[in-house]
Amino acid sequence: MQIPCSEKELFVIDKVARASGSLGLESYLIGGFVRDKLLGRETKDADFVCAGDAIELASATARLFDPVPRVDYFKNFGTAHIRLSDGFDIEFVGARKESYQRDSRKPAVEPGSIKDDQDRRDFTINALAISLNHADYGQLIDPFDGLKDLEAKIIRTPLAPVQTFSDDPLRMMRAIRFASQLGFAIEENTWQGIRDTASRISIISQERITDELNKIILSPKPSVGLDLLYRSGLLRIIFPQMVDLAGAEYKDGHGHKDNFYHTLQVLDNLSVYSADLWLRWAAVLHDIAKPATKKFEEGHGWTFHGHEVVGGRMVPKIFGKLKLPTHEEMRFVRKMVELHLRPISLTKENITDSAIRRLLFDAGDDFDSLMMLCEADITSKNKQKVKKYLENFQLVRQHCRKVEEKDHVRNWQPPISGELIMETFGLPPSKPVGIIKDALKDAMLDGVIPNNYEAAFAFMLAKAAELGLQPKG
Ligand code: CTP
Repeated sequence: MQIPCSEKELFVIDKVARASGSLGLESYLIGGFVRDKLLGRETKDADFVCAGDAIELASATARLFDPVPRVDYFKNFGTAHIRLSDGFDIEFVGARKESYQRDSRKPAVEPGSIKDDQDRRDFTINALAISLNHADYGQLIDPFDGLKDLEAKIIRTPLAPVQTFSDDPLRMMRAIRFASQLGFAIEENTWQGIRDTASRISIISQERITDELNKIILSPKPSVGLDLLYRSGLLRIIFPQMVDLAGAEYKDGHGHKDNFYHTLQVLDNLSVYSADLWLRWAAVLHDIAKPATKKFEEGHGWTFHGHEVVGGRMVPKIFGKLKLPTHEEMRFVRKMVELHLRPISLTKENITDSAIRRLLFDAGDDFDSLMMLCEADITSKNKQKVKKYLENFQLVRQHCRKVEEKDHVRNWQPPISGELIMETFGLPPSKPVGIIKDALKDAMLDGVIPNNYEAAFAFMLAKAAELGLQPKG
């Protein structure tokens, strides 16, 4: 075997080879598994291609295991899939002349040879195959010098780029995703092919596009992929709000920073510390409303007042359009966008405990994520300034820690519930109940009353009296 495999993997591969031999088929291990093994990366699934009936090969392979695992197959596509007990996925596909489109709805299965199949794959590094055949078992079949590209860290299409990308335009995003994920360069013709074919991305489903976008955002240095998306013209089509951040305007000697590259820098800074997709999305979106709120104030310069609020409102729309999850994850990102300026406002002198309590209350369990985002938001090139800003945030963290130890506001639950207010005053659910609840919360956060039941009850009676309400009975 010309790739380093574990014993367990060799055990599985051997079973496929035996099944293939017994059926008299020609079979190969191909695609991401071969690529990632050669790169020393982790692998979780393996693809097998055979010149013949892949479903038959999968069934014969399954029968060599004890117990026999289930074979899922798609007759229209001639593909099959087995999930082995330890979570190792193996997939089978018949060699085809048509383009290889895993998620496409249209069956494209004109049978072909292994060479036909390699021709129609996306990149030379993904077309590498290992023979499972008796005559040359374990040999690397590499008609396009994929191994050389792997060593030189190059993404290149096997055929003319425009053909490969027209067959499945998602491959343009895959090229950029691999470049960002693996730290590879896109070969010049392939890059030109992406630029020439970019508009065809619009025929691809949003789910597949977003899947690649998320992988780019999760890559070690996401700015690499996002900048390539931008320069290829793809970003303008799939996520125009982000492109609107690009560019810097000058007027009367006042300029502002290029918010696109600032955003990429924030995302990279954050990615050093967090692999959380949603916190990374918060970095992508933190300044998204800067173009919408930009104003030039005479004698003062550019302002973006309220961009955190407007940005917060844009989050559900963007998540909806990109088909990102619209519940908890979206709420988290929106909260981060809305709160991202608050810790900065607490770096000034003479900050009251009350302001700190409000931030702790509003951020709740996401306080640490918010601080991480704010620290990543420091993109000054002046090292002294960066040091000073980071120290200021350390002071905010310390102040927050002290107040939290004393007042426990991060997960604050009011000591007096809405039900108790209704019961005490014989009220139905109504406006006064909300007014009393809000007043109670404000009094506690502002330090007017301590965080306990007795004080809250007394405050409730006083506030209700102001509203002309008396306890019943
Ligand atoms: N493939 C392709 N065109 C696509 C998708 C996939 O040619 N649009 C081929 C490639 O040969 C790829 C193989 O199918 O290596 C398996 O696809 P997939 O599992 O989606 O990708 P991997 O390359 O394995 O990488 P990853 O798991 O990181 O997506």
